[in-house]
Amino acid sequence: MGDPLQKYLCLNDFETAARRRLPRPLFGYIAGASETNASLRYNAEDFDAYAFRPRVLRDVSGRSTQTTLLGETYDAPFGIAPMGISALMAYRGDVVLAEAARKRRIPMIMSGSSLTRLEEVAGAAPGSWFQAYLPGEPDRIDALVDRVQRAGFQTLVLTVDTATLANRENNIRAGFSTPLRPSLRLAWQGITHPRWTIGTFLRTLAVHGVPHFENSYATRGAPIISSNIMRDFGRRDHLNWVHLERIRAHWPGKLVVKGVLHPDDALRAHEVGADGLIVSNHGGRQLDGTMSPLSALPEIVARVGNKTAVMVDGGFRRGTDVIKALALGARFVFVGRPFLYAAVAAGGSGILKAIDILKSEIHQDMALLGAVALDDIDDCFVVRRDHR
Ligand code: FNR
Repeated sequence: MGDPLQKYLCLNDFETAARRRLPRPLFGYIAGASETNASLRYNAEDFDAYAFRPRVLRDVSGRSTQTTLLGETYDAPFGIAPMGISALMAYRGDVVLAEAARKRRIPMIMSGSSLTRLEEVAGAAPGSWFQAYLPGEPDRIDALVDRVQRAGFQTLVLTVDTATLANRENNIRAGFSTPLRPSLRLAWQGITHPRWTIGTFLRTLAVHGVPHFENSYATRGAPIISSNIMRDFGRRDHLNWVHLERIRAHWPGKLVVKGVLHPDDALRAHEVGADGLIVSNHGGRQLDGTMSPLSALPEIVARVGNKTAVMVDGGFRRGTDVIKALALGARFVFVGRPFLYAAVAAGGSGILKAIDILKSEIHQDMALLGAVALDDIDDCFVVRRDHR
């Protein structure tokens, strides 16, 4: 028997495996975006707007993919983006993602829409970041921020591109909702996907009980399966800059704002005291037709790149994608779906493999590009393809 992970040659290979393993509504929830999937397409396509202009004869034998971000040294310039309900997709999803990231010395951001208590992830993988969805309600903000701090997290990410739920018709068509509503159709999906049903779902029920939304607020939320309970999203559409100021005053650790695309917002986040921002359109899952984060980068970097840590996510699948963002001035990249697919396909060892694949692509690309350190990669290495 050879190494079962040998068949994974690039990040997209995990998607194929996860598609087979997961009930269709669950796979659709991960893969999908909103309405026409326009932003999802832009995210993938916009890397093609840039081409490399390598340098040669530079002795790149001493190259390294290490980098520093917010005062920490990481072994690669990418981390794992926050993804809700990961523990429904892969057994102990949040914990295995966080542990693999810690093992490979990259950051993992735990989602606030998760089914594992945040204290557990903080204990299993110190150094993980926590992402919150906060409503514009000061009492609930303070209570959650206090809880995150007590658990020992040092970096808090506030996601700001979810003022309301997006129009994800694909989920409704596929029979997905949170909580999941029991139905014959769902039961049939369970029967026809036994590896997920036994290895993830029944195992979770047997060992940990029915998963609940644990970290939306300071107190426990709705169960993941219910025929009638509604989730409480709070007054998310009230959230504004004053709340960010309040969080900044209350939270002593590093503060990152996720979901910024306009340079004025980037500057304002910096002025309010955020330590960094993630340029993101939520993987194309919020406002359909939103520009890709890669295309937003140059203007944001020009405005705040010398003042704050500019990070980016959305559609990154290759080492070359990561390097294009670094060349445009990003300090760091986050990757979402492929790591969750890797967790679904092969648990912790799948995630480690995915990290290794992306990291070794970057290492190889650096040699071919003529760069010894990631800090050397600037916009001299890329040209816009429309400037041929
Ligand atoms: C997400 N994303 C997300 N973002 C966030 O801030 N909090 C969350 O709970 C979630 N949940 C979530 C679930 C799933 C299944 C996906 C795919 C995405 C968005 C995520 O953090 C990130 O912005 C995008 O996924 C990045 O794009 P790629 O790498 O998936 O293309």
